[in-house]
Amino acid sequence: MNAPARILMCPPDFYGIEYEINPWMHTERQADQPTAAAQWNDLRQILSGHGAVIELLEPVAGLPDLVFTANAAFIYRERAICSRFRHQQRQGEEEHDAAWLTAHGFTVETLPNDHFFEGAGDALFCGDTLFAGYRMRSQAVSHQLVAERIGRRVIPLELVDPYYYHLDTCFCPLAKDVAAYYPGAFDDYGKQALREHIPTLIEVDKDEARSFACNAVVVGSTVTTNTGCPFFHEQLRAIGFNPTATPLGEFVKAGGSAKCLTLRLDGEDAASWRTNVA
Ligand code: ARG
Repeated sequence: MNAPARILMCPPDFYGIEYEINPWMHTERQADQPTAAAQWNDLRQILSGHGAVIELLEPVAGLPDLVFTANAAFIYRERAICSRFRHQQRQGEEEHDAAWLTAHGFTVETLPNDHFFEGAGDALFCGDTLFAGYRMRSQAVSHQLVAERIGRRVIPLELVDPYYYHLDTCFCPLAKDVAAYYPGAFDDYGKQALREHIPTLIEVDKDEARSFACNAVVVGSTVTTNTGCPFFHEQLRAIGFNPTATPLGEFVKAGGSAKCLTLRLDGEDAASWRTNVA
């Protein structure tokens, strides 16, 4: 038996659309607080039902995007390489993330302060290889440094569509040699690199990518996404995964969905290494 997945989430008490740092966000299209809370609770229940242990980061007034814990850090075993947010609006999150990770036994590391890096939102293992998105948020140089520090191979992927500004919005490792991606978010080199390195690569179409199909939380063979991705779910079932849809529309207003609301504390690599597909 594998140890249970450990996932960090942050309740949406102070969540809202208070600024615009990606094309999904419009301050005049506010999130509805009770609906957001209900959607977040449902996600939490589903993930617990899938056997994950959910740990909580305390929400902080004035940091509406702290709910997106995927951006807190990149976790590698007992090490947490903390984010350096590109946008000043999110930089206040850094100290809270670092404090929580330190208090919970992680060795917290940072990158030099001119290196933007947005944690597990932009750096995802598929099998032994770290895939890393850059341009909109993280910088390629940051990923090189992370890869050097952990002694692993990194494949940098340039993100070309501003709607898919973090790698986890358009790429989802499902098992060590299985992933899903939205081709429109990558340049030719990126598409080719993904096809060459990942034997089973599911293509997500434009409409379902817009519903954040790729922003999926994988726990064992379960895959949880926002609603509106029926074709992706069909493809997942066909290869032995067990998908669940849950409405996350209030978080889509900020440019996030299921995966963004979670951080694998047992390592992003665990999601792909430990999956046993039926
Ligand atoms: N509003 C947040 C931002 O633009 C959303 C973050 C979503 N997180 C993610 N891992 N994709 O930074």
